[in-house]
Amino acid sequence: MPTLLFRSPSDPAGTWSDALRRRDPGLDVRVWPDTGAVDDIEYALIWASPDGFLHELPALRVVFSLGAGVDHLMGAEVPEGVELVRMVDPALTEGMIEYVTYQVLRRHRHMADYEHQQAAAEWRIHPQARPGERRIGLLGLGELGGACARTLSGLGFDVAGWARSEYEIPGVESVSGDDGLDWLLGRSDIVICLLPLTGQTRGILNGTRFRRMSPGATLINAARGQHLVEDDLLIALGEGRLGHAVLDAFRDEPLPLDHAFWRHPHITVTPHIASLTNPETGAEAVVRGIHADQADQPIPHRIDRGRGY
Ligand code: GLV
Repeated sequence: MPTLLFRSPSDPAGTWSDALRRRDPGLDVRVWPDTGAVDDIEYALIWASPDGFLHELPALRVVFSLGAGVDHLMGAEVPEGVELVRMVDPALTEGMIEYVTYQVLRRHRHMADYEHQQAAAEWRIHPQARPGERRIGLLGLGELGGACARTLSGLGFDVAGWARSEYEIPGVESVSGDDGLDWLLGRSDIVICLLPLTGQTRGILNGTRFRRMSPGATLINAARGQHLVEDDLLIALGEGRLGHAVLDAFRDEPLPLDHAFWRHPHITVTPHIASLTNPETGAEAVVRGIHADQADQPIPHRIDRGRGY
């Protein structure tokens, strides 16, 4: 009987273990810290790996991440030789599509302006652009970025995407490389970051890039706080170079109470909720991975630890 250890500071352990056991009644699910003897634990399902506890599991074979992003598990947290698998869950993808589409439509239809106007009882009509006149640039065209690109393009927006390699997505212009990035930033009214966090993408949203962006553009970061150079964003917004930023992820979480982002008139803050892993569909993905491994088949969505995602 395979044994899986569950550990997360925020995901509900009871709901997850029930969902896992329902999908595989033969799975021995142990919830941290009630692990019992650890020598037979082959699988772990975790958000992060504090205090190096994975190194104390001698039979560990595979670590499943509760998150789509695994940047915080790319160091020595996961012992060498142990596979790392990221979460690809249809509900997580749906949630990200909703968040991104909502924020794009909010900007596209001037909804924040209308909310302010209501507070001041002001009747004023903003021009209504057609979606095809609104240029959206996605940074990252993987599982989440690609899904958002398809949805926004389906709504009629003019969508382009930048990624490490070029992707074939109908109706979406895909570019790569430094020139591709400059082109995408210069053309886009709304730039959305859904990149994995790697050595190449850390700090990618910085002053130099903001100067390349179209004046008054909106930035949406639903990836990682470390993609963004926070002071550069404050300067770009202060100079009016960028019009607005929607931020869901931060360098320090929870965002400190005295952080300038909380009360900035041109920043929308959400508490890392763009999309949450769903225990039902997430458990299905994990059990599928365990069954593949038990059958000596490759586990889907394994991380290439050299590449970083
Ligand atoms: C959340 O940020 C995730 O990586 O799923």
